Amino acid sequence: MKDLLRTADLSRSDVELLLDTAADFAVKPFLANSALANRTVAIYMTKPSTRTRLASETAVAHLGGTPIFIRGDDLQIGRGETIADTARIISGYASALIIRTFKQSDVDELGANSTIPVINGLTDDDHPTQLLADWVTIREAFGRDIAGRKFTYIGDGNNMAHAWLTMGAIMGAHVVVATPGGAYAPDQSAVDAAQKIAAKSGATIEILTDPEAAAKEASVLYTDVWMSMGDPEEERSAKLQSLAPFAVTEELMALTASDAIFMHCLPAHRGEEVSAAVIDGARSVIWREAFHRRTTIQAILYHLVRGELSGNTF
Ligand code: CP
Ligand code: NVA
Repeated sequence: MKDLLRTADLSRSDVELLLDTAADFAVKPFLANSALANRTVAIYMTKPSTRTRLASETAVAHLGGTPIFIRGDDLQIGRGETIADTARIISGYASALIIRTFKQSDVDELGANSTIPVINGLTDDDHPTQLLADWVTIREAFGRDIAGRKFTYIGDGNNMAHAWLTMGAIMGAHVVVATPGGAYAPDQSAVDAAQKIAAKSGATIEILTDPEAAAKEASVLYTDVWMSMGDPEEERSAKLQSLAPFAVTEELMALTASDAIFMHCLPAHRGEEVSAAVIDGARSVIWREAFHRRTTIQAILYHLVRGELSGNTF
């Protein structure tokens, strides 16, 4: 496996390796501090980022390398240079490229035309590096045995919903996505892809439109912003109105399992998709989850550059 372009690129054994290495990097950040010595990693983002950018730059530094951050229209891509040519040029300098942008197809094209690993740092469709941080955090809360546990994402059927389904399928989990349906349902192609993985992994996938049924006895209640980067501003008020019953409140949390945790990829909007009482409450693991963005990106870089991931075998 050369690139991490989408969550579905990962096999179960890849995920296990990455989670174990991330757990090591959590305790010993400088364990592999010469893995990228004298080398660079390019980080190109056409959307804003707090966590993914800082976690990536820190991860590269901890591996002994130098991050090169490139913002939005800094590259000649904005003046018509092709993605393919850009991919070839970056491959001549850097040891890996982390890319955050809108279209998944642009990330695929970078991967296809690069000789170095390309890592998806969020697209409109997917957010694979986030899901690894989420699952290290889930493992810290519940251990490896997740039998009988229910993992619920509630809110907009966006990139996070897709990634949640896919990673849950890879992990053989009982995974639930609850949205208002219609325009806010997860993409059918993402649901189909997750179902295909689930058929082999033994996972159970439920797509619901009832927030209370989704929350009932869940071990994890996960949500994300209702307006994602790039969502049309003119749709805001209708979208927020449709999503209002899907807000994670203390009443909704009361339906979950007694040891349930609350998760959020962040940034959050208190009083919108989640109440302050929940996100700042005792069951919230958001700070640990955000901390693991660095440990997991460090693990991805470490293993991908060394060619140690096998890729999806589903
Ligand atoms: N969760 C996440 O990707 O955060 P940023 O948008 O700040 O990178
Ligand atoms: N769905 C959000 C996730 C941010 C990390 C977005 O794409 O803006």
